[in-house]
Amino acid sequence: MATETQLINTRDGASQSPWQQPVLKAFPATKNDLVYDALVVGGGITGLTTALLLQEAGKQVILAEAHSPGFGTTGGTSAHINTFADTTYREAESAFGEDGAKLFAEAIAEGFALISSRQKDCDFESKPGYLYAETDNEVKQLDEIYRGAVKVGVPVAYTDQVPTPVPFKKALVWDRQAQFHPLKYLQDLQTAFLAAGGRVKINTLITGVETKDGIHVSGDIQAKAVVYATHMPPNINLFNFECAPYRSYVMAVKLKSGKYPEALIYDSQEPYHYVRSHVINGEELLLVGGLDHKTGHEDPDKAFANLDQYVRKYYSVSSVKYRWSSQYYVPVDGLPYIGQMPMAAEGIYCATGYNGNGMMLGSVAGKILSDMVRNQPNKYEKLFSPARIKPLDSFSEFVKENADVAYHFVADRVKVHETDSLKRLQPGTGKVVEVDGQKVAAYRDEAGNIHALNPVCTHAGCIVSWNGEEKSWDCPCHGARYDIRGKVLTGPATKDLLTLNINENK
Ligand code: FES
Repeated sequence: MATETQLINTRDGASQSPWQQPVLKAFPATKNDLVYDALVVGGGITGLTTALLLQEAGKQVILAEAHSPGFGTTGGTSAHINTFADTTYREAESAFGEDGAKLFAEAIAEGFALISSRQKDCDFESKPGYLYAETDNEVKQLDEIYRGAVKVGVPVAYTDQVPTPVPFKKALVWDRQAQFHPLKYLQDLQTAFLAAGGRVKINTLITGVETKDGIHVSGDIQAKAVVYATHMPPNINLFNFECAPYRSYVMAVKLKSGKYPEALIYDSQEPYHYVRSHVINGEELLLVGGLDHKTGHEDPDKAFANLDQYVRKYYSVSSVKYRWSSQYYVPVDGLPYIGQMPMAAEGIYCATGYNGNGMMLGSVAGKILSDMVRNQPNKYEKLFSPARIKPLDSFSEFVKENADVAYHFVADRVKVHETDSLKRLQPGTGKVVEVDGQKVAAYRDEAGNIHALNPVCTHAGCIVSWNGEEKSWDCPCHGARYDIRGKVLTGPATKDLLTLNINENK
């Protein structure tokens, strides 16, 4: 019965996160002669939650994953499970009204509850969460966050006790927040999905579907509904203009003191920092993260240097065990887009724009999407509808994001790079250089060989930039990413970068 085996130890970057552990899994054969009730594309928290809830409701579901479950953002998250959100309840209220903000808080709480009820063997731990302010301006923001949370009924309190060495002026505490091991949680979901009769097809990239008579077809898979649980749905679509890709950085370090905070702790800086602890393979580690920036806009090496400097300023670090980065999408009006995909055939759904709250919003998206596929009402459907009319306030943000994309489209084509010769490219590094007047994305491997690619992103034509930490080519426009051979790591691109043959002595 087992026809495919999987080793969960890869992710969408060269750095290993502590979650990548070898897990062998055998999958039952897929049924090619069946019209499935749903094809779920993407094996992260959104895809597996959606697939499981549908399968348990009696639907026959197939999940297709381009690599292996957890390859994308779920395998790189730092897995905070909290009842406050990156889009504050105050911000949600100003854009969507008091009822909208309350519903948003309920959705976050429902995602949290879904994880709590489904977790089995994934290091799930309940801990308090702290947010502190270090400046007068941050204190004002903190007070706003407090008032917004109280108004929507989220329990929060002021505190002067925060387990942090950082001096602060004012702080908030949320009791009963949580953390877990995200890939072990995916295993919990996947085990339940397979036990309920679901099918998983790995190494299967879905680049789109053709729809005829209400049936969606991709290769040998036929389904009555399709759910894109891939952050960005593939190819060019509305979300390319409504969500901006961001990278976030994490380090896992060992402390000389052996004392680790039993809490989730966040500062209010812009960009922010956070810390939490986690026991990984029997060893307690401090996870320090943040310093988020738009994909392809800043140097990842610099972000890690700053994060390293930050953690050593406040903690006595004995060793750095892991460092890795991950990608998420910031929606232009602050709330995620979950539901029927605009300008697509009926029955094609998507979920994206979770901001930094993918664990809760990915989980609740699974509930919303499974209800929609089953034609069941869901109270969040309207609030998160991808077809919603954007509030006026967000329009300037929308214009700004897309002006930024237009800037990169033009400016990166004419930019003069400091290194214009391949000879100066050091082993293990990459750069966009010019050879015979042609731009080349060049990477020199440790053995000295050059891997040359056309730097024009296959999604919409922006020029990719080098990510030296993850050894990837990242697109600054809509977040597509490619490995050193040009293979797609992250959509919305579906085609690899073209390989070039060049003369290395130029
Ligand atoms: Fe859209 Fe590269 S991701 S142009």
